[in-house]
Amino acid sequence: MDILGVDVGGSGIKGAPVNTETGELLTERRRLKTPKGAEPNAVIETIADIVRSFSWHGPIGVGFPGPIKHGVVKMAANISSAWVGLNAAEAIREATGCAVTVINDADAAGLAEVTFGAGKGVKGVIIMVTLGTGIGTAIFTDGKLLPNAEFGHLKIRGEDAETRASDAARQREELSWKKYARRLNRYFREMEKLFWPDLFILGGGISKYHAKYLPLLTVNTPIVPAQFLNEAGIVGAALAARQETR
Ligand code: BGC
Repeated sequence: MDILGVDVGGSGIKGAPVNTETGELLTERRRLKTPKGAEPNAVIETIADIVRSFSWHGPIGVGFPGPIKHGVVKMAANISSAWVGLNAAEAIREATGCAVTVINDADAAGLAEVTFGAGKGVKGVIIMVTLGTGIGTAIFTDGKLLPNAEFGHLKIRGEDAETRASDAARQREELSWKKYARRLNRYFREMEKLFWPDLFILGGGISKYHAKYLPLLTVNTPIVPAQFLNEAGIVGAALAARQETR
C-alpha cells in the first residue's frame, strides 16, 4: 500500500510517498522550511503544500516532534506551545482532505528501522535515538513499540539531555566531533544504565556523518547508524498510518 509519509522537523518539513510493503520512497522527497516559530496554522499549511505538490489524496502518516496520544499533541519542546492539546490529526485532515495518522517522530523513525532497517529481526530491547533539533527516543522490545518515550528530556547534571547533546547543541556551540562525542557518551552511558538495551540505533539529520563520531562512542551496547538515515521518519510515519488503516 502506498502512503504519503511526512516528517515535521525543527528546521524542515519533508515528505514522500512510501511503498509500505518495502519501505522504499516512490519518488524523491520534497522538503520545505519549517515556518519560523512552528505555529500550528503555518506548519499545517506547509504540510498541505507538500500534500498538494504530490497531488495526493490517499492516507497520510505524519511524524511529529512531540508526544502524541490519539492524534493530540501532549507536549511541545521545540515547537510552538500552541500545539499542546491540539488534535493535530484532525487539523491536518481538515486542511488536506486526506485520512491522517500522527505519531511521534522518533517512534516513526524507530518503526522504519525495526521493520526494514538496522533493527530488523533483532530480538530484545532496541532504543532508537534521533539527534536533530532535539533528541528523540523510541523503545522497542522484540519489535513492539512502547510509544512516546521522552528520554531526550532525561536530566543529566540537572539539564535536559537535548540541551547539551542534540545536533542543534553541537552546531550552536560549534563543538568539535571529539567534544560532541564526549557529550553523547555521557548520554548513552546513562541510557545504558537505565535500560540495558541490546542495540542503539542512531538517526536524525546527523546520522549521515556517523563516521565522524560513532567510532568515538565507548558504550558497551552495540550502536549502529539508521539504515534509512534521515529518511527513517518519513518511512515510519507511513508505516504508522498503514497500521491504522488495517
Ligand atoms: C520532543 C520529542 C521528539 C524529539 C525529537 C523532543 O524535544 O519532546 O517528542 O521526539 O524532540 O524531535
